[in-house]
Amino acid sequence: MPIEETDTKVTLTHPSDPSSSVTILKHGATILSWLHKGKEQLWLSDAAKLDGSKPVRGGIPLVFPIFGKEKNESSPAFQLSQHGFARSSPWEFLGQTTESPATIQFGLGPEQVDPEVYKLWGEGKYDFTLILSITLDDDLTTTIEVENSGKEDFDFKWLFHTYLRVPDITDVLVNNLIDQRCYDQLLATEYVEKAPVISFHEEFDRIYKNIPVEKSFQVIDKGQVLHNVHRDNLPDTVVWNPWIEKSKGMADFEPKSGYHHMLCIEAGHVAEYLTLAKGSKWKAAQTLSVGGEIRLQTN
Ligand code: BG6
Repeated sequence: MPIEETDTKVTLTHPSDPSSSVTILKHGATILSWLHKGKEQLWLSDAAKLDGSKPVRGGIPLVFPIFGKEKNESSPAFQLSQHGFARSSPWEFLGQTTESPATIQFGLGPEQVDPEVYKLWGEGKYDFTLILSITLDDDLTTTIEVENSGKEDFDFKWLFHTYLRVPDITDVLVNNLIDQRCYDQLLATEYVEKAPVISFHEEFDRIYKNIPVEKSFQVIDKGQVLHNVHRDNLPDTVVWNPWIEKSKGMADFEPKSGYHHMLCIEAGHVAEYLTLAKGSKWKAAQTLSVGGEIRLQTN
């Protein structure tokens, strides 16, 4: 099986198509690249830190156990930094689990998290196991399983923070979000999306909530479907583009014109916390696929 492992990265090549591969940084178990038939599907900043000193700017960072910054002082997640610690901890490469389709796994438990950071979540009383499975077929599926292996129930949020590569953000449209409730993080307002398709002309940061999982989102460029985002057990989706000013403020965002070439569509469970009882497991997945017909899914 074509798996290449170095100290810092793992590359899985499609068993019957050497032009398709996925490369994962062990730090954060962050997917850095997905080549589909020789074409890169993800955006990665030229200034992304790959040495573990910062979460990776680009690819597919993993967000757990909080999304954004917790504002409620009485929450056990209040002291955690933005988007939690999964994306900034060294995951263990667990190897390959299936040959066809090719699947590899990574794992994270409390012992791998910086102790100073870990104790900021519920004073370090939670025990958990995260297993990330990455399946490379014609599509790319990332499956997450969260297990509460401790003595206390805990609350968490999960998100695949996917940076999709696009030719030019001003040309792309995203469908199938019409009539979904959304919280606009820039306006701090909640409303129902009424645009039949989303287009991008300025900074964009919205959490679409509780979307039926049958709905997939398509990124369409001049009538062609570039990307499809499918979800399993992930009710919410964040759509984000930092545009000009916000990109300027991010030291690890290069080139500064890079916002033209990326669009984050982030499938997750982030609008509300999930409570995971001790001894229980929760599983969810995202599948990215390339091309196909335009599919309009209304309610
Ligand atoms: C998105 C959020 O998911 O992540 C944005 O909706 C945020 O508000 C963005 O700016 C990037 O976050 P970070 O921590 O990677 O800079």
